[in-house]
Amino acid sequence: MKILLIGDIVGQSGVKKVKEVIPEYKKQNNIDFIIANGENSAEGMGITSKIYEDLKKCGIDMVTMGNHTWGKKEIFLFIEDENIVRPANYPAGIPGVGYRIQEVNGKKIAVINLIGRVDVAILSENPFLKVDEILEKIKEEADIIIVDFHAEATAEKIAMGYYLDGRVTCMFGTHTHVQTADETILEKGTGYITDIGMTGPKKSVIGMDVAASIKRFVTTLPERYKVSDDREVILRGCLLEINDETCRIQKINRIKL
Ligand code: FE2
Repeated sequence: MKILLIGDIVGQSGVKKVKEVIPEYKKQNNIDFIIANGENSAEGMGITSKIYEDLKKCGIDMVTMGNHTWGKKEIFLFIEDENIVRPANYPAGIPGVGYRIQEVNGKKIAVINLIGRVDVAILSENPFLKVDEILEKIKEEADIIIVDFHAEATAEKIAMGYYLDGRVTCMFGTHTHVQTADETILEKGTGYITDIGMTGPKKSVIGMDVAASIKRFVTTLPERYKVSDDREVILRGCLLEINDETCRIQKINRIKL
C-alpha cells in the first residue's frame, strides 16, 4: 500500500501544480491513497467548493484542514462530505468531523486531523486527550491510521509523535510550510515527520508575498497578506510504503516535485 501525503496547498498556483503533477504521479507510482492539506488553498485562507472538487478529480482521497478551516464561508456546504476532515479537537458539536475511515484494497484507512495549541490562535481542546479518545473508538475498525497534526511548535509535534508511537501508522506535521529533514520510523513502528512542507509559490514567505510580509515585520502595521505570485511553484510531501499484510509502515520518504 502506498500513501501519498501532500503538504499545505497554498493559493491558485498550488492548486494548479497539484492538477499538473498529481494525476500522472499517482499513475506512475501506483499510489493507493492520497491525503492533502487544503486549508490554505483558497487565496491562502480556507477552501472553496470548486477547489475541493478539483482536488478530488486529481485523485486526492482526503483533504485535511487546520486553523483556516472556516476561511471561506462555502466550506459549510461541503464540510460534511466524506473526503474532508477538520481538526478533531475543535469544540464538540460544530460542523464536520475530525476523522474518517475509508476502505482501500480491503484495508480500512483512518485519517485523523488535529490542531496544536502552542502559538496557534484557536481555542481548541487538548489534542493529546482527543486523539486518545478517537483511537479508543476506532482501534478495532482501522487497519491503518494516519494523523495530520496541524501545529506551529516543533516541540508539540515531536511530543505528539512519541505519544502516538506504536499506536498509529504515521503522524505527519503540517502548518509551518517548510519541509523538515527528520522523517523517521520511531522505535515502536510509527512513521514520523515534523512537517511535510508546502505546495505553492517558491519565492514567498511560507506562500505569501515577500514584500507584504517584510512590511508587516518591519513596520508592525497591518498589511494585507496576499499569496506570492512567483511562477516557480513547488510541491512537497511524503510517500509512505505500508506492508499489505501487517499494515506496518516500511518506508517514509520525502518528496519534492
Ligand atoms: Fe495552518
